[in-house]
Amino acid sequence: MAARKIGILGTGVYVPERVLSNKDLEKLVNTNNNWILERTGIAERRIAGPEENTVTMAVAAARQALDAAGLAPSDLSYIILGTNTPPHIFPACAIQVQEALGVNGVLAAFDVQAGCTGFNYGLYVAERMVAPEGKLALVIGSDTNSRFTDWTDRSSCILFGDGAGATIVGPVERGGILASFITSSLNMKLVCETEFNAEVSPFLPPSTTTERHFLRMDGPEIFKFAVNAVKDSIRRIMEMADINREELDYLIIHQANNRILEAAARFAKVPWEKLFVNVHRYGNTSAASVPIALHEALEQGRIKPGDKVFLCSFGAGVTWGAALVEWS
Ligand code: ACO
Repeated sequence: MAARKIGILGTGVYVPERVLSNKDLEKLVNTNNNWILERTGIAERRIAGPEENTVTMAVAAARQALDAAGLAPSDLSYIILGTNTPPHIFPACAIQVQEALGVNGVLAAFDVQAGCTGFNYGLYVAERMVAPEGKLALVIGSDTNSRFTDWTDRSSCILFGDGAGATIVGPVERGGILASFITSSLNMKLVCETEFNAEVSPFLPPSTTTERHFLRMDGPEIFKFAVNAVKDSIRRIMEMADINREELDYLIIHQANNRILEAAARFAKVPWEKLFVNVHRYGNTSAASVPIALHEALEQGRIKPGDKVFLCSFGAGVTWGAALVEWS
């Protein structure tokens, strides 16, 4: 019997209402609109309100994805959530999404943490979990980066925003995921990190509190890594799916920075018109970036049935991964 085809049956997004523009940032740190636009392409980003967090945003995106797929929460067997910014260390965000959706019968709900590659990691795992019995998975990327951003560090606070994107992954008649991989490497382990100040124990020295709580990164090093990760991902996916460059119809790449996207397109010899870009409106939403971009690309009619869509992300760890989906 031929292997079951697994694809994406519906998508959804949630972004907070509050917009933080580059002009607003000028009041927080020593920066300016022109520098941010020129170096990153980002004009504004969203910031979660006091009542919002990674779980509430994920739930809103999940409901929209379920509606788009014409499914009910009770149809789900798995909930997999990629995030770096859970509101609690445990229980997992995915369990809290399960609770909010009011569904008791899922087989498993869990989080994956893989930097900004969390959605691709989740998709990779879901594909393999649903395939044997043709089950359905909710795969979400959701991040509240504003809670882990050092708003006094101008080199990083200009880059990030909050949001969530969700997909329903399950059996399709035609097309579906043609190739996928995830990977990690220790080469650049320390270029992007956030320590969580949870180590309070009489058996440990007193914690160094807030400073350790915020994201720290080496921007130029990440830039180089990111461009190479995209190049490597395109090469691997073409090899795995046995296709050539021209057969890649549309590319949804992690929206970290417009210049990374431009450099990646140039080095990978892919025409700019084939790339979706919304980084100017949301900044880097980490694990949410690819599913938000996918949802908007579909909404804008950029993806047609039969198109081979490349979904790729890269992030702290370092990690990277990609999938090629033939849209059905
Ligand atoms: N406003 C004004 N000036 C600034 C700002 C700012 N917000 N930030 C830095 N500068 C200054 C620096 O202090 C430096 O000044 P100096 O030359 O007097 O020392 C100058 O601008 C150049 O700094 P660089 O860091 O070399 O600037 P670069 O061109 O590399 O751009 C940037 C920095 C935008 C961070 C870039 O390196 C980048 O986008 N890197 C990727 C980061 C990223 O995407 N991280 C995502 C996190 S994880 C992930 O998704 C993989």
